[in-house]
Amino acid sequence: MKRLLLTGAAGSIGSVLRKKLAPLAEILRVSDINDLGDAAPNEEIVYCDLSNEDDVYKLVKGCNGIVHFGGISVEKPWSLIRPANIEGVYNLYEAARKTGCTRILFASSNHAVGFYKQTDYLDDKALPRPDGLYGVSKVFGEAIASLYHDKFGIETAIVRIGSCFPEPKNHRMMATWMSYDDFTALIDCIFNISQLGCPIIYGISDNDGKWWDNSGTAYLGWQPKDNGRNFLETLDKRMERPKPDAPDAVYQGGYFTVDPIYASEDD
Ligand SMILES: NC(=O)c1ccc[n+]([C@@H]2O[C@H](COP(=O)([O-])OP(=O)(O)OC[C@H]3O[C@@H](n4cnc5c(N)ncnc54)[C@H](O)[C@@H]3O)[C@@H](O)[C@H]2O)c1
Repeated sequence: MKRLLLTGAAGSIGSVLRKKLAPLAEILRVSDINDLGDAAPNEEIVYCDLSNEDDVYKLVKGCNGIVHFGGISVEKPWSLIRPANIEGVYNLYEAARKTGCTRILFASSNHAVGFYKQTDYLDDKALPRPDGLYGVSKVFGEAIASLYHDKFGIETAIVRIGSCFPEPKNHRMMATWMSYDDFTALIDCIFNISQLGCPIIYGISDNDGKWWDNSGTAYLGWQPKDNGRNFLETLDKRMERPKPDAPDAVYQGGYFTVDPIYASEDD
């Protein structure tokens, strides 16, 4: 690929994958509203607020693929979610359509299906059950991806990311964890397969006790290798396991299911 765009490059996942994605393209265009530091030799830095349609058009122009991590990544007031995750995603897909960019990774979330129980086993056909406005915004992104695929042939890997951190932060995340190495391998498959389509992929490592089934997207050839369950001993030393009726033990989205609708950032 000539030029790959990485949005949200200053964020928690973006700042790690920024280095790991370099081999995928001649030029990695990294973007955010926050400080991105110095550009590596293969990088170009473009600051851009996703809610600005004209700026997003300029950001996307010349890119052959997009890894879209930018936006609000937890439950927040609608006044923050709407510009970044609703208008921002619309702006991104419109820019892709107008500039001829045909392949995107959309970072969806487990919170698009957070109100399913942990006893439910979901595959790529599972309908959304968002656990907050953030989850709703991810469902919107999934719908835009589907629309732009059916109408314009833009291919998107919709990745319902579980928990992508150096290691699971609590017991629930043993089931939802995805290591950075497994995510990098997935992105490699997404941008190297000849026909991608518009699949829903659960972004998780090969975790014992997982709730998600990726057999519908086996054609990608992705074989995650890590396992969140290996952190059980460490987590047991660090914290108590959640009580059986706690949201973190009942719902796939855990404590997001009991978040209020935040009216302002001070709530
Ligand atoms: N970390 C996880 O485990 C996880 C789980 C599920 C989904 N996701 C999704 O993956 C993506 C990356 O997650 P993360 O944990 O790195 O999130 P993050 O919050 O650390 O990073 C998001 C980045 O987006 C940028 N951003 C916010 N609003 C913006 C705007 N209006 N214009 C341009 N940039 C803006 C922020 O500055 C930030 O650097 C997000 O879309 C998130 O919803 C992450």
